[in-house]
Amino acid sequence: MQIVRRSLCLLNLNLKNGVNVCGSFSSVRWKSEIYSDVDAIAKRISESSSIVVMSGAGLSTASGIPDFRSPTTGIYANLEKFKLPYPEAIFELEYFKTNPGAFNIWAKEYFPGINFLPNKGHYFIKLLEEKGKLSKYFTQNIDGLERLAGVDPSKICEAHGTFSSASCTSCQEPYPMEDLKSELMSDLTPVCKKCNGFVKPDIVFFGENLPKRFFDDAEFDCLFSDLLICVGTSLEVYPFAGIVDLPRHNTARLLINNEIVGSFGSRPNDTGLLGDIQKNIEALCDKLGWSDDLTEIQLENEIKIMKNQK
Ligand code: OAD
Repeated sequence: MQIVRRSLCLLNLNLKNGVNVCGSFSSVRWKSEIYSDVDAIAKRISESSSIVVMSGAGLSTASGIPDFRSPTTGIYANLEKFKLPYPEAIFELEYFKTNPGAFNIWAKEYFPGINFLPNKGHYFIKLLEEKGKLSKYFTQNIDGLERLAGVDPSKICEAHGTFSSASCTSCQEPYPMEDLKSELMSDLTPVCKKCNGFVKPDIVFFGENLPKRFFDDAEFDCLFSDLLICVGTSLEVYPFAGIVDLPRHNTARLLINNEIVGSFGSRPNDTGLLGDIQKNIEALCDKLGWSDDLTEIQLENEIKIMKNQK
């Protein structure tokens, strides 16, 4: 199943059979308010033992990486210099095959592991894992910050791929990541040694398939979850956004985001912490009695990162 760019509204999304589109629920908002009692939300988390977390670019904005769709700060609002036919073209396979320049400039700036560190949101996910509550973590992000925060890779499903490998967009020949990185850093265009096609990291562009594991894990983990936490995503891109509707109808769902997105507010056990993610996670950890754990986990890991960088 591929991700594509066009807008469409999907109400009954089945990950396996549903059309794969970039859709919007914004015209079908069920509620403009959502139950937000932080005490009740903390109680729900403390009683849960099988939590699915799904995330998007909003999780990493506090690390200094812009999201995509925020009106002035988002990536799509700041691409004029590239003279793209439409903003999403920068991440579209067919466009890249003839015009790799815009993506390569973006990739140079946001290449993972160079300029950015995990924030409290990433450490909160690590904390859920340490408390034995994390069933699976699904992310659209390609920045690798959850891995850097120490979340167990077997718990992470990177639905839109990673920067850990690269290949040719024409013949799929693997390309050495170190070569790709040094060429991007030197403003060179990585080209396949076999067929001269343009090379990109193995992140999932619009028009490409998601990893098979995503579909299997999403259905299984959501079905058996007792809480789904959705953080920092507009839920505009399918099939990833469909995860939010996979848990059973009465399973609790928590949204941590600036705004209400997707079908949040339509189910009996929906809750939301609206506003800044960092502040809400701090408040939640405070209620859970986890604040010291969160600080400790972050400090320990930052020391580890510093040592590894030496
Ligand atoms: P979006 O930019 O679409 O959505 C980010 C969401 O996070 C928005 O609802 C923001 O309001 C919210 N947000 C941002 N910073 C926040 C903060 N500090 N506190 C609270 N909320 C905050 O990003 P995604 O949903 O991740 O795909 O985008 C999905 C996909 O679209 C990406 O994976 C990417 C993009 O095109 C491809 O490129 C293939």
